[in-house]
Amino acid sequence: MSSPSAHVLLLENIHRSAYAAFEDAGVEVHARATGLNEEALINALASIPGDAPLMVGIRSKTHVTERVLDAVPRLHAIGAFCIGTDQISLSGARDRGVVVFNAPFSNTRSVAELMIGEIIMLARHVFMRSAACHRGEWRKSAKGSHEVRGKTLGIVGYGHIGSQLSVLAEALGMHVIFYDIVNKLPLGNARACGSLDELLAASDFVSLHVPDTSLTRGMMGAAELAKMRRGASLLNASRGLVVDVDALRAALDEGRLSGAAIDVYPKEPKGEGQSFESVLRGCERAILTPHIGGSTEEAQANIGREVSIALAGYLRAGVTVGAKNLPQVDAPDWDGGCRISNIHRNVPGVLSAINNVVSGSGINVAGQHLATMESVGVLIVDLCIPRDDPRARGLRAAIAELSTSLRTRLL
Ligand code: NAI
Repeated sequence: MSSPSAHVLLLENIHRSAYAAFEDAGVEVHARATGLNEEALINALASIPGDAPLMVGIRSKTHVTERVLDAVPRLHAIGAFCIGTDQISLSGARDRGVVVFNAPFSNTRSVAELMIGEIIMLARHVFMRSAACHRGEWRKSAKGSHEVRGKTLGIVGYGHIGSQLSVLAEALGMHVIFYDIVNKLPLGNARACGSLDELLAASDFVSLHVPDTSLTRGMMGAAELAKMRRGASLLNASRGLVVDVDALRAALDEGRLSGAAIDVYPKEPKGEGQSFESVLRGCERAILTPHIGGSTEEAQANIGREVSIALAGYLRAGVTVGAKNLPQVDAPDWDGGCRISNIHRNVPGVLSAINNVVSGSGINVAGQHLATMESVGVLIVDLCIPRDDPRARGLRAAIAELSTSLRTRLL
């Protein structure tokens, strides 16, 4: 059996959809169901035999600290098979030339679909009536129930989720308006609003899809809720601090707003099974969900595919498109010889030093691809000699020896 091109340690039950890309790239997969603490992670990585590059795939429980990075110099890449990357020392990885990939948009569709479902549930007061049925009450009435066809959905934040929701809502016959701080191309018949106030005054449903920034925190306070149409509904599956939940509770209790669907909260329990406290608890007009907007089997499968393809692409071709902590360099496949990938400290003179070494080797260069950001640069050099030519190994070693080089691989 030929030796693997690399090893990947997959922790925390990463979806099987990740395996295909690794198998295609000749990467040996070592999978575990649980996360590992710092010490156990170091031991697990260090116990993988051979000298082929190592990669690790984690979700939120395993932390890749500077200590792990120092203890495992064979580690070349980290896959965060989730959205967040707080569990990884991104700067520590960057300074050591270790690339980090995550999957920020794999669950976009899942969130948009939940919003559609909830808009209809709110329009028909389904949760309120369901709760009444559970209590043994028969609340059969058309009063206050509406079709969503022809109603106006106001989307705040027209990014990945907001724009996907726009398309789905139009398919239901809704009018879509949106507000974004960046000039965005309206999809379908959607219309951009010049201000948040304009959107709030014109919407039957307001759905928030902005990131958590100093501008968006508290963006929907008492004053903004008061600007919404009487009887309108608010949906928030973005970030908890975007909405003032005390003001929302008051608007719901007073009947100014007809309903709300809330998936994210200013304070969320840390883990499964912990108790959930919110001023919105007990408010029958509010649909409350435990931050599950993006939590579907499909999103998990997408994440598995997306991150493993990025890791395999980096391993095979040195491309860093989608990297969270390194400049993003892309390069078409090069079949006419071999390729050197070099991650370096971005200091004056670094490129000329590398080019001196390359030109001194006398090897013909077919192409160079470079991307830099602040302290670090990623360079791909395509050479017109085969990978097994000893001059290729010599050139790799000479580039790796430059004091500015962090990682240099022959591909
Ligand atoms: P994105 O980055 O693609 O889109 C965000 C949009 O908001 C951008 O178009 C941006 O220009 C706009 N924006 C930023 N500041 C704004 C402001 N002050 N006013 C108006 N627009 C503003 O992000 P994506 O993927 O669409 O995610 C949106 C939110 O959804 C994020 O907060 C994310 O954390 C959250 N999310 C929640 C999930 C859940 O399970 N509930 C799952 C996935 C994402």
